Amino acid sequence: MTQSDLLSSPKKYSSLDGAIKAIKEMKNDPLANAGTNIVISRGNPNAKLLIVGEAPGPQENIQGKPFVGKAGQLLDKILEAGNFDTEKDVYITNSVFRMPPGDEGSNFRKPNDTEIEYYRPFVFEIIRQVNPFIVLLTGNVASQSILGKTGITNLRGKWIQSQNIWIMPIFHPSYLLRNQSKAPGSPKSLMWDDIREVRRKYDELMAG
Ligand code: URA
Repeated sequence: MTQSDLLSSPKKYSSLDGAIKAIKEMKNDPLANAGTNIVISRGNPNAKLLIVGEAPGPQENIQGKPFVGKAGQLLDKILEAGNFDTEKDVYITNSVFRMPPGDEGSNFRKPNDTEIEYYRPFVFEIIRQVNPFIVLLTGNVASQSILGKTGITNLRGKWIQSQNIWIMPIFHPSYLLRNQSKAPGSPKSLMWDDIREVRRKYDELMAG
């Protein structure tokens, strides 16, 4: 089950801009002292397709927008393959709004449970404000944030309906960058199946 109590609970802010302002002003952010910038969203706030990623990486930290590095470029290509206009049809956010600073040998790391939990109510508020038909969760961190579960290989490609929202976990584009095979059953070919199914469902929901 999804954490549908959060999706169905009333909006906390009167507008998306109000929610974003509150996020920028939030207190007790576990990553506030990480020395990284706040990165919240990009795309069309009226879009019917919303994507939740993991956390900003170095490029996103510099540019202040999610998914603008290599993984983001691949995400845009995947969306374009599904015939989505990445400016018009999509709104993109993350599970965590600051890049978690890395340990030795790397300049960033995956967000931990405390960080995911801290940001979760804000991510849900963004979803409630945008009110999309479809939410795609890229990888385990986004699935943990929104569904409270991980295991992307099993979760991917399956719809979960919560309120009026259709949610589908998909692979994270960074995983595809590490697995370049296009053979049947490979992550890339499964992603292709998933984006086609997303297109089908999107058309069905848009037709009302
Ligand atoms: N990976 C993510 O999950 N989000 C970003 O914004 C960038 C890379």
